[in-house]
Amino acid sequence: MKTNLKPTTCLAPVPAVMVTCGDEIENNIITLAWVGTVNSEPPIVSISVRYSRYSLPLIERTGEFTVNLVNQNLLRAMDICGVVSGKTQDKFALTGLTRIKGVQVKCPYIGESPVALECKVVRRTDFGTHAVLFGEIVNVIADEEYVKDGKLNLPNGLLVAYQNGNYTATGETLGTYAFTAKDIRK
Ligand SMILES: Cc1cc2nc3c(=O)[nH]c(=O)nc-3n(C[C@H](O)[C@H](O)[C@H](O)COP(=O)(O)O)c2cc1C
Repeated sequence: MKTNLKPTTCLAPVPAVMVTCGDEIENNIITLAWVGTVNSEPPIVSISVRYSRYSLPLIERTGEFTVNLVNQNLLRAMDICGVVSGKTQDKFALTGLTRIKGVQVKCPYIGESPVALECKVVRRTDFGTHAVLFGEIVNVIADEEYVKDGKLNLPNGLLVAYQNGNYTATGETLGTYAFTAKDIRK
């Protein structure tokens, strides 16, 4: 038996990230789970930000943001940045995360994050509750241990996922890309 439910967003698990925004003088960290991959050439990601967030005007002002990927060591900091607003607190001070000057963008990135994607906003689309900002990735800053032959090589299980109010581990490999190819009749 199937049942029909009220329409709702229930696409999960998804990677949860910390997005940094602002400039050298005023900056902030916001935790986001509504983040997506949009385009390959040029590389574009999307972030969905509720209108009430302190971060939204900061992103709007510079036209830039940085997506900091989150590993298990950053779990507590990510949770804090998802429940406290930059309106009232400096989340770098609160979490002890290291604020590092951006390379290609004005906003700082998080030193402890294994990978930071520096983005410039190329488009914005407004919906009822959230603004969706599309950011072209203009620079990727990675810990050297995660780079192999000049390419990003993140181990399975490094990142944290978010699902239905839970932070979950990733990492059990169930198959590899195109593992069915040998079985498909041409
Ligand atoms: C795991 C997690 C995921 C979240 N995802 C989003 C999101 O995708 N979009 C959003 O607007 N807020 C999201 N939030 C809520 C914001 O992070 C939270 O309201 C934060 O305090 C806003 O910070 P700001 O006011 O400093 O910008 C999420 C929070 C958590 C804990």
